[in-house]
Parts: sequence; structure tokens; C-alpha cells
Amino acid sequence: MPAITVDPCTFALFGALGDLALRKLFPALYQLDRAGLLHADTRILALARDVGDERKHLAFIDEHLRRHVPNKEIDETVMQRFQARLSYLTMDFRDAVAYTTLAERVADAETLIAYFATPASVYGPICENLAAAGLAERARVVLEKPIGHDLESSRVVNEAVAQYFPESRIYRIDHYLGKETVQNLIALRFANSLFETQWNQHHISHVEITVAEKVGIEGRWGYFDQAGQLRDMIQNHLLQLLCLIAMDPPSDLSADSIRDEKVKVLKALAPITADKLSQRVVRGQYTSGSSDGKPVPGYLEEENSNAESDTETFVALRADICNWRWSGVPFYLRTGKRMPQKLSQIVIHFKEPPFYIFAPEQRALISNRLIIRLQPDEGMSLQVMTKDQGLDKGMHLRSGPLQLNFSETYKSARIPDAYERLLLELMQGNQYLFVRKDEVEYAWRWCDQLIDGWKRLGDSPKPYAAGTWGPVASIALITRDGRSWYGDL
Ligand code: BG6
Repeated sequence: MPAITVDPCTFALFGALGDLALRKLFPALYQLDRAGLLHADTRILALARDVGDERKHLAFIDEHLRRHVPNKEIDETVMQRFQARLSYLTMDFRDAVAYTTLAERVADAETLIAYFATPASVYGPICENLAAAGLAERARVVLEKPIGHDLESSRVVNEAVAQYFPESRIYRIDHYLGKETVQNLIALRFANSLFETQWNQHHISHVEITVAEKVGIEGRWGYFDQAGQLRDMIQNHLLQLLCLIAMDPPSDLSADSIRDEKVKVLKALAPITADKLSQRVVRGQYTSGSSDGKPVPGYLEEENSNAESDTETFVALRADICNWRWSGVPFYLRTGKRMPQKLSQIVIHFKEPPFYIFAPEQRALISNRLIIRLQPDEGMSLQVMTKDQGLDKGMHLRSGPLQLNFSETYKSARIPDAYERLLLELMQGNQYLFVRKDEVEYAWRWCDQLIDGWKRLGDSPKPYAAGTWGPVASIALITRDGRSWYGDL
């Protein structure tokens, strides 16, 4: 039996026939059910505009569920229980009248979770209609990213929602916060005094955060081209990772204590002024190349593309945090589509020892690094210097890892998908893995100045061949500081 109990709720999923719901949300709900973490009275209400027979839509959801849950994890008893929780309602989300039917369908729910897997432009109208139907008092609302495309538009969305819901019932998703290793970062930092004493500019020389994807745009050209990699990945996922690495210890594990500390980091990010932009930030766009040995098209040749686009599919940048802890410690961030492999990792590079007593030719070898692997092969590895074994080796040094590979160490436990964790916390009313309004806004403020700088300078993305680690300028970005990207092969 699970060690926690979760109260019942009605989970109303707006946009239930969309890609996110089918690929991520239904499978995550199913996995929670399989783990015994859905209350017997929890109901799931799928809402979408599509008219037609309810049974047909439910069969469609079922078909996708079976496609996205690994075969060995499909348990027919759980499937049946899950299907029994599920119903479908056709709804135009902007039509206030439709919410009368919704109110009838959820009349006996004490807690209503309204999950918006829809474009942000309808968040405001949905909230207004929920309130008009008398549903707001018992509802928690969940907002998917992107929330706006800059500070101003994000404020419009946040304010529209805030008219009807207090911040304590607004859950903004950044699915990276639900990843197992990301939560482990909090444990690593604040449950091990070993690291916390070293976690500052006295001991750390620099930090790298890489989120590389092997895939290209995957039929999302229309959306992606309006956003680009800075808005799609840096504004949220990478800045959240940076905050978790850089924040001061919170006074407790409450949502606001953690979020207060993250906001302090975002506020301390040094702006990158136009005169430094070309040295500190590199934008790239992939051209044709190869992935897994097969030829793949360039960004401008993808389906539905516009050959004139100068949207970036890659960003590398150097961020500096202006505070006592991090002064002089660059954070190098890098993310791109069509990279050689899918890899999300954080590398903390520690400073060299202050005095050196070993053979001079070995000096370059010496370095301690903590590598935090988010995906694939979730785990952590601390690279330490040891002596090579053998009588003939003298005091020859080698760098070896102290490894903690989660799937090896916790063999029996499967690593849950980020959405499973987030949906569970949501049902329990815990907000610490969700993003507060001011975090979103400070992150936009910092990204907006980069976008404005690019516009002013007329900057165009630099080409890189699909299947490579980005434009050569991204290598120059870090070698200029006498460093290199860790592990680039
Ligand atoms: C999403 C972005 O937020 O994250 C996508 O919109 C990206 O463009 C995805 O592919 C990456 O998530 P993950 O969990 O696969 O690293």
C-alpha cells in the first residue's frame, strides 16, 4: 500500500484530445491509479470541443493511453478501474452557457482540478466562466507553459487568471520541476552538509547546464517558430534549473520559502547588455544533417516551414549571478534541437587545489566535478582524484567517479515521469514544484532584454548541421573563458 493518502477530486482536463493530454496527462493519471495513489472517488472529466459520441472519444483516449504506457505496465484490472473514472463532455471553452452542464457534472466534487492543456489565450475566459458558474471557490487551476511570449503578455494572462483565483490555487507547470533528479537536487544540496559548505565562489569555478534534444520540431513548426529555443526552453526549464543550483537554503520546504529563494536568484541575474551580447550569447538554427546515421532536413525545410524564418533552435549563453555566493562564477547554459543525443545534465566544476605537489604534466588532469544527470540514466557522479594502482605507477593520478545511478541503486523502483509527480503534488495541494507568478515574470524580464538586444543588433542565428553540438561560436563562447563544454564528443 502507498505510504501517502490522497483526497478525492474531480480532475477536469480542458483540451483532453490534444497532444499533451494524450501523450503525458492520461498516462500519468493511469500510473497514479496503478500505484494506488488515486482515491477511489476520484473522477476524470475529459473536456474538448470535438462533438460526437462520448464512447468514440473515450475509445480514442484509451487507444492513445495504451500506446503511451509501456506494455509491461498495462494492468487490465487497473485499466478498467481507470476507464470507469473517465467521462467525456463536449465543450466550447469560451461559451459561458456550456459551464452550466459542467457545473452539473461536477456538482458533488469537493475539489475540482481544472487543468488547462489549451493555448494560454483561453485561460482567462475559462477562469471567468468557471467563476460565473460558481465553480471557482472549490477549484485549483493548472496553467501549462508557455504563459505569454514576453513579460507584458505573461502579465495579461496572469492577471486574467488572478481576477478569479488567488495565487494559492494557481499551479503553473514547469515539467522539469517534476523530474526525479531535479527534486534530488534539493535533497543533495540541503541534506548533505558536505556540499553546502563548498557551494559558493570560493570553491566552484563554473557551472554548466546542458539540455540537448535529439529530435527536431516534430510537426510543431507553427508553435515553435513563434517561440524559439530561448522562450521555449531557457525562460522556463533552464532558468529553473539554474535557480535550484544557485538559490540559498530555504528556511523550510514550504512552497513560498523555496520560491522566495528562487526569485532572489532571478533578480540577481546580471542583464546582458547589447555590447556584450555577441560575446555572451549564441543563437543557432539547424541545417540539414544526420540523426542516428539517417539524413534529416534542416529547420527551414521542415513540414509547414517558412524558408525566411530566423527563429533560433539553439541557444548557448553565459549568465552571471550578482551576489556574494556566486560573484565571478559563470553559469553556462546550452540547449538545442537536433543535437547528437538527448542529454540533460548539470556539471558543477570545483576549483583547483590552491597548491600543487604532483608531477607538473598531470596538472591539467586535476579537477573535481559533480555531474548531475537528469536524463537519460538519471544519477549523480562526483569525480575525484585518486592514485593509479600498481607498483609501476608511482604517484600517478587518475580521475575516477563516485557514482550514484538511480535506476541501478534503486533497482525495484521505476522512475516516474515528471507529470506523475506533478499531478500527485497537485492533488495533495502542494505548490512547491509549481512556479509562482513573480518567478515567471522575472524570468521573462531577463529573457526579454536578450530578445530586444538581438532585435536591435539585427542578429541572425548561426547555422549548425543537424546532429552536431551547435554552432562553433558556442565553443568559442566558453573557450574564451579558458574552459570547454564537458563531455562533448
Ligand atoms: C517542452 C518544450 O517544454 O519541453 C519542448 O516545449 C521540448 O520543445 C520539451 O521538446 C523537452 O522536454 P523533455 O522532458 O523531453 O526534456
